[in-house]
Amino acid sequence: MGKLSGKDLISIHNLSREDIDMIFTLAAELKHKLKNNQPHHYLQDKSLAMIFEKPSTRTRVSFEIGMQQLGGYATNLQQQDIQIGERESLPDVARTLSRFVNGILVRTFAHQKLIDLAKYASVPVINGLSDLLHPCQALADFFTIKEKKAHDGPQGLKGLKMAYLGDGNNVCHSLMFAAAKLGVNLTMATPKGYEPDEVITKTAFEDARSYGAEFNILNDPVVAAQNADVIYTDVWTSMGQEKESQKRRKIFAPFQVNSDLLKLAKPDCIVMHCLPAHRGEEITDEVIDGPHSVVFDQAENRLHVQKAILVSLLGG
Ligand code: CP
Ligand code: NVA
Repeated sequence: MGKLSGKDLISIHNLSREDIDMIFTLAAELKHKLKNNQPHHYLQDKSLAMIFEKPSTRTRVSFEIGMQQLGGYATNLQQQDIQIGERESLPDVARTLSRFVNGILVRTFAHQKLIDLAKYASVPVINGLSDLLHPCQALADFFTIKEKKAHDGPQGLKGLKMAYLGDGNNVCHSLMFAAAKLGVNLTMATPKGYEPDEVITKTAFEDARSYGAEFNILNDPVVAAQNADVIYTDVWTSMGQEKESQKRRKIFAPFQVNSDLLKLAKPDCIVMHCLPAHRGEEITDEVIDGPHSVVFDQAENRLHVQKAILVSLLGG
């Protein structure tokens, strides 16, 4: 029985370094098998319910196709159908779905909803993005960084310099938890007032200290980008914040990842973005389509890493 079998995945903070390494090893194996047309029905006849209260392309497709490739099934429940807390109570949704399926993937606004669903469900609950965290994204991101940059061996990614530019949001928070455990030095540059959440920051900085990673939060993108091995950005306006988009476009303008900024990073720096991108805002066409960009390898790895998560949690 795997160590993560039957567990939820709500935050990377709850994973150990060994758990992360295990997910990466499994993801590499699953990727190899898929590329070589080798069967890998590790979740034969298992099922996943996917609740999406926000739009999604990568998360939905990687989990749905991932379940199919593993020999299982996924069913998609849109907000207008399931209406958690309106049509019926959250505990009743969690209890009912637990009788039908082997796992529940949830994309929602309030992080507490995920915690509550995990509390009442008797099957694993997977965070497919909340306003606070996006753990499946960050795991795929560091798997990608490992593929591109790892001086493999016991040190792995330790000592690598990553710069996150933009909003201290859900993606940034999960990158913080993952970077800490993997010993990646992370410098975040956000506009004043858009720094990562204080509670997350405190916990992630503590993790970083215990795993020997150096973390900084600045308001200066130029300092952050200097000598970076990895430059990462996300949209300035996340799902649900659309009303603020005009204001945010002005405030975040100095944090754009463009070719001038890239000149400050290491010559072999990679550029990452979780996607969807707002081209011309947080990242220019030139950079996202340029030689440093790994964004579509990163997107592809959502599939392999999400499958590894599914096998780890839903497998026997
Ligand atoms: N990066 C990501 O989660 O993409 P989607 O919103 O399309 O799922
Ligand atoms: N921060 C973005 C990530 C999208 C994958 C959002 O929440 O909309």
